[in-house]
Amino acid sequence: MIIGEPPLPEGTPGIDAIAMTMRFGEFVALDNVELKVRPGSFHALLGENGAGKSTLVKCIMGYYHPTAGSILVGGREQAIANPKDAHALGLGMVYQHFTLVPAMTVAENLVLARDDVPAIVNWPREKKELEAFLARMPFKVPLNARVSDISAGERQKCEILKQLYLKRRFLILDEPTSVLTPAEADEVLGMLRNMVVAGELTILMITHKFREVMAFADDVTILRRGKLAGHGRVADLTPDDMARTMIGAEELTVQPARIGEVTATRLELSKLNALDDAGAVAVHDISLTVRGGEIVGIAGVSGNGQRQLVEVLSGQREAESGEIRVAGDLYHASREEMRQHKMSLLPEEPLKNACVGGMSVADNIAFREFDRAPFASGGWWLNRAAFRTEAERKIGLYKIKTRTPDTPIAALSGGNVQRAVLARELGGDVEVLIAANPCFGLDFAAVAQIHAEIMAARNRGAAVLLVSEDLDELLELSDRLMVIFHGELVYEARAGETNLTEIGRHMAGH
Ligand SMILES: Nc1ncnc2c1ncn2[C@@H]1O[C@H](COP(=O)(O)OP(=O)(O)OP(=O)(O)O)[C@@H](O)[C@H]1O
Ligand SMILES: [Mg+2]
Repeated sequence: MIIGEPPLPEGTPGIDAIAMTMRFGEFVALDNVELKVRPGSFHALLGENGAGKSTLVKCIMGYYHPTAGSILVGGREQAIANPKDAHALGLGMVYQHFTLVPAMTVAENLVLARDDVPAIVNWPREKKELEAFLARMPFKVPLNARVSDISAGERQKCEILKQLYLKRRFLILDEPTSVLTPAEADEVLGMLRNMVVAGELTILMITHKFREVMAFADDVTILRRGKLAGHGRVADLTPDDMARTMIGAEELTVQPARIGEVTATRLELSKLNALDDAGAVAVHDISLTVRGGEIVGIAGVSGNGQRQLVEVLSGQREAESGEIRVAGDLYHASREEMRQHKMSLLPEEPLKNACVGGMSVADNIAFREFDRAPFASGGWWLNRAAFRTEAERKIGLYKIKTRTPDTPIAALSGGNVQRAVLARELGGDVEVLIAANPCFGLDFAAVAQIHAEIMAARNRGAAVLLVSEDLDELLELSDRLMVIFHGELVYEARAGETNLTEIGRHMAGH
């Protein structure tokens, strides 16, 4: 053994985070928090958006240096100055966002992630070893596929496999199932659970899904506004207990009743076709209509063309053929048309697709045309104060947790970025709303709020196209439901006349 290099801990370690405090300037993101993860256990970390969950685990991983507090790994205090130190102790983390390089294959991503990767890689040998490794693993991934060509679910499996391949024995998963279907989530978590039971792994999982906590976790810790709000054995708790601990005295938004009249067709797609980045057909002959005062839901397993469909509607991708009409007019997704028809868009990954990360929360809310050049034109300076007041009002109304309106939006927690985009897109008069997985990564209080907003927009007469991978959400909100499979609409039903099983069957292509 090389002298000076700490040995990997034996077995699978537990972690104690003691009296953790983390300040960002004046703001206290973690206030004297304690977290104890028993070795060989599956531990869930719960809390509202912005409660401090990601901050806590980033402190454990050495990405942040806590203002105060200490971390014990396997009962011994450790100075974790950076992620490399954490890795050396066998700690690994799977993030809320993807970290694989899209242009490389799965095998390349795995091998090149190693600390000891040689300057010249013997690929035939590495591939052989990888295959042997995969054979021992509970889930399979296509080693030779490019990451850009595999589905979100497969990418997430690769992220987890990468950690196991790198021999991490304590895995931190930050909302690992938000990109998975319920069946995929059960598969992945079930397999991880088996590894925990077999004594091969300790898991700390951040999630917003009580179902997953109840089914897979042994223990739970709950944060509220940066403080420890509660902890215990999952077997002793109900989802309701946990929900109440999470939100304290806050009230949940009540979903408005489904009211109002269905009016004329607002959005009409005829025989729309579009390609994916690799030039393959992603959207195939899609025809549908959405009328005012109606929510049309599109269900589908991630990777079946819904992303490309939304990109065409939002002007990020050109259609190959077919026609889109809004209120009867031909539509090419230009800014001008969107403004004219009062169209709003809630895209996936809002930080990337709908914000300027370095700009303030207030500016991101105030300016829909964040990615254009009105900033250069100078005209908006005239209205700056008015915009600003309006942005501050929306921050309050949508309960966006930000230190100040001037904080860069990239510093907000995932759920609060989402709320900010919502405040901007739903704050005004909306005639057509296109939403793609609008509640991805949100806590249940935020989900209730956003569902209520979408329903309210519908009740005010908006035509809503809701593309989602969350079947519960689709069944709750939609007036009509469709299923997209391999780029085609393969099923349509009125919401009251269908059910989860029926939709699930069509999603799987049967
Ligand atoms: N680098 C940073 N600079 C300033 N403030 C930050 C930074 N990182 C996090 N915060 C703030 O700390 C608080 C906690 O954020 P964190 O990301 O830990 O929340 P979270 O519990 O993971 O929420 P979510 O469920 O939305 O992911 C938030 O109010 C956030 O704005
Ligand atoms: Mg987080």
